[in-house]
Amino acid sequence: MKPITDVPALKQRMAPLNMDAETFRQNGHLLIDEIAAFLESLPERPVTRGEQPREIRAVLGEGSLPLNGTPLEDILPNAMELLFEHSLLNGSPRFWGYITSSAAPAGILADLLAASVNANVGAYALSPMATEIERQAIRWIAEFIGFPLDCGGLFVSGGNMANITALLTARKAKATWDIRQTGLGNRQMLIYCSKGTHTWINKAADLLGFGTNNIRWIETNEHQQMNVQLLEKKIQDDKKQGHLPFVVVGTAGSISTGAVDTLEEISSICKQYNLWFHIDGAYGAPAVIVPEVSHLFRGLEQADSIALDPHKWLYSPLEAGCILIRNRQALQETFSFRPEYYNFDGQEDDPVINFLEAGFQNSRGFRALKVWITLKHAGKHGYTRMIHDDIKLAKTLFKIAHAHKELEVVSHNLSIVTFRFNPRGTDSDDYLNELNEKIVNRVQAGGEAFLSNAVVENKYCLRVCIVNFRTRLEDIEALAEIVIRTGRAIDEELKKRELKLKTS
Ligand SMILES: Cc1ncc(COP(=O)(O)O)c(C=O)c1O
Repeated sequence: MKPITDVPALKQRMAPLNMDAETFRQNGHLLIDEIAAFLESLPERPVTRGEQPREIRAVLGEGSLPLNGTPLEDILPNAMELLFEHSLLNGSPRFWGYITSSAAPAGILADLLAASVNANVGAYALSPMATEIERQAIRWIAEFIGFPLDCGGLFVSGGNMANITALLTARKAKATWDIRQTGLGNRQMLIYCSKGTHTWINKAADLLGFGTNNIRWIETNEHQQMNVQLLEKKIQDDKKQGHLPFVVVGTAGSISTGAVDTLEEISSICKQYNLWFHIDGAYGAPAVIVPEVSHLFRGLEQADSIALDPHKWLYSPLEAGCILIRNRQALQETFSFRPEYYNFDGQEDDPVINFLEAGFQNSRGFRALKVWITLKHAGKHGYTRMIHDDIKLAKTLFKIAHAHKELEVVSHNLSIVTFRFNPRGTDSDDYLNELNEKIVNRVQAGGEAFLSNAVVENKYCLRVCIVNFRTRLEDIEALAEIVIRTGRAIDEELKKRELKLKTS
């Protein structure tokens, strides 16, 4: 029998995906040049073309899986055209929808670098430098928001996963039995949060076995903050019934209005009743560094865990969420399993971090790099300025809307403003809700600017969330004009419809 290595084709293996350095360089230069031009052109481009799936599919084509390969120099121009011309551009200075930031250019380059090294940051042995960069970035984020530097933590895909990671950690820490082995049994472990909490909590309650009926949704006050008197009463009632309250979730920057719960008060209730205090700061936590609003976050440093999304107010490209856990050991106790097929133990006198033992993922990408690089690029002072400016622009929008007789302001917290178009001072919420919903849809599809919606005290509102270092004053001023112009047109259409109904 011939030796296996004597197969001529394998001596000079030509793998279809392999690439010589010169081809890589040429394609890379082309790509970087085009990306630079694309980023420069963002202010001139529509935020979206509002294309529907059928139109997008027609542009993309419905071809079947290619059997043979195509040179990259033919693929890249097409891929760039598809993406640059048919994407919603959240990097536009006029994108203020949901909570999605403009991605920092340094973060874009960092992702390329991360993919080049392709570190598997599940185990130190597979990613020595990447693991230590992640560890340092976690410490920097703790330092950024004033959390203990010796906390545990890791990067995850986003706010949902960060919060869910924290809830599982809280579950393990507060269970007095071996919950990893025996599960919940018939016990009712209860979660407390305000009615303004993001929907991740439903997924967490479902996924982690608590059941969504075991979420206690606490009413909010007139500032959209959790009513802590009601919280305490509910905990007492539940304890009397023999249930097991175990965690209170405070929100630092709610999805709809940016409200920050009274964290200090929640913290003292948690201490009194021996409950885990988790903060969802996915959006708002970075604003703690801005002197004008830092008082809102008093008590944040007392939390057992905090979720924070670098892909929101740290302007990191998607995806980057982060969870910090005060007691680093708690993460390990929640997530660590040690199968015999892993050989990841370090030396006794110089222990290693294996992030696979601190979260849900085994194989993990190097998300930390884009966060580490952007934190270095702007520094704490740079971030303070950018976040401060976003808040100031939101305040300016609030003032513009307040001053305009056809606009009615509803709320302003951090960098989120909610308001509605009310051209005739009517108090018919039904009419205004329909009118404003139509405005949101038309503005979103029009491409001049992108905002989203919120329902605040049964009022359907236009909602602007500025986590965008490209937004300038002129963009905010333009938005008011766009909303009023669109609103007046829709109001006319609705009036005509009413008239037609009356006369028919
Ligand atoms: C307060 C809050 N928590 C959690 C999330 C979920 O974050 P992600 O979309 O990154 O999973 C969001 C998203 O906007 C949010 O605003």
